[in-house]
Amino acid sequence: MRVFVAGATGAIGQQLVPRLVAAGHEVHGMTRSESKRAVLDELGAVPVVADALDPDQVAEAVGRSRPEVIVHELTAIGPLDLRHFDRDFALTNRLRTEGTDYLLSAGQAVGVRRFVAQSAIYGFYARTGGPVKSEEDPLDPSPPRESRESLAAIRHLEQRVLGAQWTEGIVLRYGAFYGPGTSMAPGSEQFDLIRKRKFPLVGNGAGVWSFVHIADAAEATLAAVDHGSPGIYNVVDDDPAPVAEWLPALAETLGAGKPMRVPRFVGRLFAGQTGAAFMTEIRGASNAKAKRELGWRPAHPSWREGFAAA
Ligand SMILES: NC(=O)c1ccc[n+]([C@@H]2O[C@H](COP(=O)([O-])OP(=O)(O)OC[C@H]3O[C@@H](n4cnc5c(N)ncnc54)[C@H](OP(=O)(O)O)[C@@H]3O)[C@@H](O)[C@H]2O)c1
Repeated sequence: MRVFVAGATGAIGQQLVPRLVAAGHEVHGMTRSESKRAVLDELGAVPVVADALDPDQVAEAVGRSRPEVIVHELTAIGPLDLRHFDRDFALTNRLRTEGTDYLLSAGQAVGVRRFVAQSAIYGFYARTGGPVKSEEDPLDPSPPRESRESLAAIRHLEQRVLGAQWTEGIVLRYGAFYGPGTSMAPGSEQFDLIRKRKFPLVGNGAGVWSFVHIADAAEATLAAVDHGSPGIYNVVDDDPAPVAEWLPALAETLGAGKPMRVPRFVGRLFAGQTGAAFMTEIRGASNAKAKRELGWRPAHPSWREGFAAA
């Protein structure tokens, strides 16, 4: 098939494109910058230069590629201060709202038969009830103030993709990425903070995280390009775990001292309501549906071994 990947040069894109090529697909990879054509060449994609926030450029790029499938992996997550979550996610939010709309209408014009888009589990499911959520579980009805716009942007993306009756809309709710090219990898900022004991355990550390190795996320996406009924899939590992469990384990893997402990109100002061919710309240997710319907099995079923291999 001809597959158009928006976000082909990103952390997930760079893992996904070679897998699509190896599976025999013709990949057209989008970037904003002429200078990244070479990266796409090397990955085996036909480079397409266009700005995802310019509807005419997107329409022209998709119109020229005439793909059967579009994969939307656009984000622009720079340095993040959790106290100003929406501010730091502003560009990503535009990519998830306007960017999604432009890609969908360009896709509709050429009649793409499948549209696969990146969503996320973190901060998304209601912070009540059991620790591990399925795709049917309710979303957070009142997200923390500083991340409200960002969650609204993800919901916009999901609603538009799932509501597109003219195509097969697939939403992949990825867990927290780790591994090469991500913000949780050797040499990355987050690993560095943990090594320097600047990533404290807040309150009871009961927030449940679901991780996914970036290569496993790419494998699930490859499967979703090819099969699986339209709908939502959690793409996470088999081992959702509270911060109080994974953070000390990761610190040990990195050869760091035990994480510092701070009370919840101190966490809220330094990381805002969103940061405190991430550390004490969020829920993890189940990958049962992705395994069942996409036939996907993570090669790194648990972060316990995965972090050490990252
Ligand atoms: N589930 C998760 O845990 C999760 C999800 C997303 C990100 N992250 C983390 O956040 C880190 C940083 O992510 P990131 O979003 O900065 O970068 P990224 O992973 O490098 O990907 C961003 C992609 O979006 C493209 N893009 C952005 N704006 C565009 C525009 N206006 N027009 C066309 N393409 C555009 C970029 O293309 P060009 O730059 O080539 O134009 C690039 O391919 C990642 O490494 C990852 O670890 C985690």
